[in-house]
Amino acid sequence: MNQDELKQAVALAALVYVPEGEIIGVGTGSTANFFIDGLAGMRDRIRGAVASSEASAKRLAAHGIPLFDLNEVESMPVYVDGADEIDAGFCMIKGGGAALTREKIVSSVARRFVCIADASKKVPVLGKFPLPVEVIPLARAHVARALTALGGRPVWREGVVTDNGNIILDVHGLAIAEPARLEAEINQIVGVVTNGLFAVRPAEVLLLGTPEGVQVFE
Ligand code: 5RP
Repeated sequence: MNQDELKQAVALAALVYVPEGEIIGVGTGSTANFFIDGLAGMRDRIRGAVASSEASAKRLAAHGIPLFDLNEVESMPVYVDGADEIDAGFCMIKGGGAALTREKIVSSVARRFVCIADASKKVPVLGKFPLPVEVIPLARAHVARALTALGGRPVWREGVVTDNGNIILDVHGLAIAEPARLEAEINQIVGVVTNGLFAVRPAEVLLLGTPEGVQVFE
């Protein structure tokens, strides 16, 4: 199986976590896209979805899945999304698709975060994948200096503007021993909107796509 086939298998396996008659949270990226395509097959059995990006909203709408604004939704049973890296404690790096802020907001309203990932995303220590940080444009140089002081090497993802009108700094060279502490520390830098560590609130379920089949960790 190639990586796309592993992503598709794991995305379809997540459909059993979608309760009937509910509004669910939907992530962003190629794995989430396979999930959205699978969700289309049960669109008459759910109330709808809250999207974590304009791209996912467009794909959901194209399948005729009703979209809800997060402000209309008090709680959701589940949020399903991919990750760039995930460790044994289900802490993640996300934001390779620049949707980290909305992903963190939408997932925070869900009772269960189901991470769908191919086996390449499982790592012993987070940080080989450069950590995305969403930054207010005016603060780019200031935040870059602060991230350097933390031991990272920030690189501006030039040409990318997030759905919120901000920029992304990708921080290279971090070996993240304490993800929740670093997540909180980076969020304290003035000008940071959020960072791609999902560790203060990790996933509750990991579906891992392996050549031997989908492995479930809860
Ligand atoms: C987007 C994300 C994605 O979940 C992450 O980048 C994984 O993407 P893919 O499923 O395409 O490998 O965080 O901001």
